[in-house]
Amino acid sequence: METKIFNTDQIAEAAAAIQAGQLVAFPTETVYGLGADATNEAAVKQVYLAKGRPSDNPLIVHVTGEETVKAFAQPLSDKAEALIKAFWPGPLTLIFALQPGKLSSAVTGGLNTAAFRNPDNAATLALIKAAGVPLVGPSANTSGKPSPTLAKHVYHDLNGKIAGILDDGPTKVGVESTVLDMSTDIPTILRPGGVTEEQLAAVIGTVQSSHHKVGKTEVPKAPGMKYKHYAPNAQVTIVDHEADWTAALQWASEQSGTIGVMAVDRILQAHNLPDNVEAFSLGHDLTSASHRLFAGLRHFDLESPVTGILAQGFTAEGLGAAYMNRLNKSAGQQHFTN
Ligand code: TXA
Ligand code: MG
Repeated sequence: METKIFNTDQIAEAAAAIQAGQLVAFPTETVYGLGADATNEAAVKQVYLAKGRPSDNPLIVHVTGEETVKAFAQPLSDKAEALIKAFWPGPLTLIFALQPGKLSSAVTGGLNTAAFRNPDNAATLALIKAAGVPLVGPSANTSGKPSPTLAKHVYHDLNGKIAGILDDGPTKVGVESTVLDMSTDIPTILRPGGVTEEQLAAVIGTVQSSHHKVGKTEVPKAPGMKYKHYAPNAQVTIVDHEADWTAALQWASEQSGTIGVMAVDRILQAHNLPDNVEAFSLGHDLTSASHRLFAGLRHFDLESPVTGILAQGFTAEGLGAAYMNRLNKSAGQQHFTN
């Protein structure tokens, strides 16, 4: 089965496929999601198969507003209401305790909580409304690969495995949503993302981050955070300090194969790039770098294969927390040392 590309005036066809229990990838402001009817257990199970995803890793339920959340979750707290008002639609996923028996354990991975998100993309909101059901949606990549920020990335990973892809061009944010657990006494960030810790704290006061180490070990609370992620074929090495690029490029020039370099224009222009270096621009700042990070990793997998990748690090503050979380995973924590 060849996967069909739907454009944004073919919402009705895409919705019909969802209603028939088929899988349709959909655009969001963060990355593309792999959609299925969240109330159809057989369809949800197909999502895990298509992605090659471990079945204990729960899925986000995509909704068009808080009404659907209330049909599944326990009554929402004032803090939850305030967050929804401030950040939905947008890159914030909220985890709530569920009413018993309302969502299949295929969605929740057997937990008594579920993750909900209202994505900021008009085509996808129209798709959910036309289908008349909420959509599960993990990122629409093969498990372990960088998340897709273009329809062609989805096509590469999932062609033949899903019915269709709703194509709405490049996603805006480029890194996935912030996952915030509202089922704990103190709201806890399980995954940093498009909404920063500072923005959350400004609305509801104290939030904690599960990335802060407990003793010496870091315990991943979002099941998905324990898996290897975002990995291109070539080893990624992070260059944290601007002053290290001279030495890093010297190292690149001594390698036998081609080395990919991902950095902002200022850095690319400040150096004479060795002949065996292929550059991928991250634009001019942290925002454009987050938008292009996954596309760059995929570029060096598919379009311009390399034997190693040097990628620019940023300070892990604000959106930088999400950027560095993803980059560290893709690099297996490998940093350039001079
Ligand atoms: O931006 C996004 O969030 C994208 C777009 C498509 O919406 N979706 C996405 O889904 O990144 P996924 O499945 O790749 O990541 C969801 C994360 C996983 O780490 C998963 O373990 C966690 O959220 N999660 C989902 N439900 C959970 C729950 N009930 N408790 C704890 N973690 C949960
Ligand atoms: Mg994912």
